[in-house]
Amino acid sequence: MSEPGKPVGGYWIATWGCQMNVHDSEKLAGALAEEGYVPAAGPEQADVVLLNTCSIREKAAEKVFSELGRLKPLKEHRPGMVLGVCGCVAQQEGEGIFRRAPYVDLVMGTRASGSLPRILAGLRSGAASRACDTEVRDDSIRFPFERIRREGESAGKAYVTVVEGCNHRCTYCVVPRTRGPELCRPMTDVLAEVRSLTARGVVEIEFLGQTVNAYRDGEGRTLADLLLAAAAIPGVERLRFTTSHPAQMTDRLMDAMQSASPKVCPYLHLPVQSGSSRVLRSMRRGYDREAYLAKIDGLRRRIPEISLGTDVIVGYPTEGEDDFQQTLFLLDAIGYDTLYAFAYSARPSTAALTLGDPVSQGEKLHRLARLQAHQRTIQERRAQRWVGQEVEVLVEGRSKLDAGSWTGRTPHGRRVNFAADTAPGRRERVRVISASAYSLRGTPAPPPA
Ligand code: SAH
Ligand code: SF4
Ligand code: F3S
Repeated sequence: MSEPGKPVGGYWIATWGCQMNVHDSEKLAGALAEEGYVPAAGPEQADVVLLNTCSIREKAAEKVFSELGRLKPLKEHRPGMVLGVCGCVAQQEGEGIFRRAPYVDLVMGTRASGSLPRILAGLRSGAASRACDTEVRDDSIRFPFERIRREGESAGKAYVTVVEGCNHRCTYCVVPRTRGPELCRPMTDVLAEVRSLTARGVVEIEFLGQTVNAYRDGEGRTLADLLLAAAAIPGVERLRFTTSHPAQMTDRLMDAMQSASPKVCPYLHLPVQSGSSRVLRSMRRGYDREAYLAKIDGLRRRIPEISLGTDVIVGYPTEGEDDFQQTLFLLDAIGYDTLYAFAYSARPSTAALTLGDPVSQGEKLHRLARLQAHQRTIQERRAQRWVGQEVEVLVEGRSKLDAGSWTGRTPHGRRVNFAADTAPGRRERVRVISASAYSLRGTPAPPPA
């Protein structure tokens, strides 16, 4: 630990990938702050530069090496700077990163955040010239939450880890390998973190896990129990959780969402991946089209106004035009408010590699464009239901697209831009005046008479 008030150096962290990676960067920042490092404005001013990487698709993984190439001259100019690669690419490639980028000092996998201070101390003392830590520990789940330096806190929002890793074996996916087997945090730890956050003014908590609804603690308590307990904590106004696996979307969890509503927000991200049962079977998703539709039915019966989001992969090796069309029909049948669509990318050490990659890149991009155009029409139509309604917006900050406006989200997860005298972290009543596929515009609602 450093002398109070005297920084030992600056750090800069670049983050790619999903919410879990964003949150891991918050943990890395916390571990560095604990050692006396302070945030630097950019890599040029930093003594420790970390790239927290994503490996989900080839393009994401390759970005790391182009960023490393960009940082190479800086590292050569300032050899004392520690350059590290963390996250999913680090976990997957391990020492291989040194072979491709020999100027890297540190490779740190997804379960090593807690070891960062020890590794840095070794590097800085000259005891080791480089370090690689990709051990798949099971104590990573006990990272001391008081240290986390959260980005969203000033806007009243915080991520909270609930499950690490994944026990599924979807044929296309690197996550079980990059994040290791499933680990669940004891519910008492999670609730202690939630209480400490509300004491600091956080009102919106998002529980995180690659399969967050697989949660089961040592006492057999599930995500349903966790949601009910968290909703009862004073100061908790909004609860979200991501990502849910359709096969683990139990009736009990849906009942808990309903009974803890509106604290549990009326939004669910439920990745379907494909509308074709044949493709889903080949992907080993553990549900078919009918079972997925039954889950959506169960949700809408309990929470009729719920907004839904999903992920879709196009061009999976066994996907034909007929399968793809079933995905288009599924979008019509369900009416999602949000869609993330991806072209299939063959990934190292995944089961789908044996199927080859027969759908051409041109065809994948064509399907992607058709899917997105289709969804855009659905989303534009669905967004109109908000016009004229009064919604609650949790203010995130200034709108990037619209100077002079503020931006934030409704409980349904809709982005709203509006001009008002407000500040990040405040919850405002806003009347929606117009709607597009991706955002709403509003004006402050008059106070209730
Ligand atoms: N745990 C979540 C998703 C994790 S990855 C789930 O089970 O749904 C986020 C999304 O990336 C996935 O939903 C999938 O749509 C996409 N994805 C994963 N692997 C991919 C690959 N090899 N190529 C293209 N997209 C992929
Ligand atoms: Fe990947 Fe499937 Fe696990 Fe999601 S559930 S992280 S897609 S293996
Ligand atoms: Fe990417 Fe790792 Fe998340 S591969 S999507 S950062 S779990």
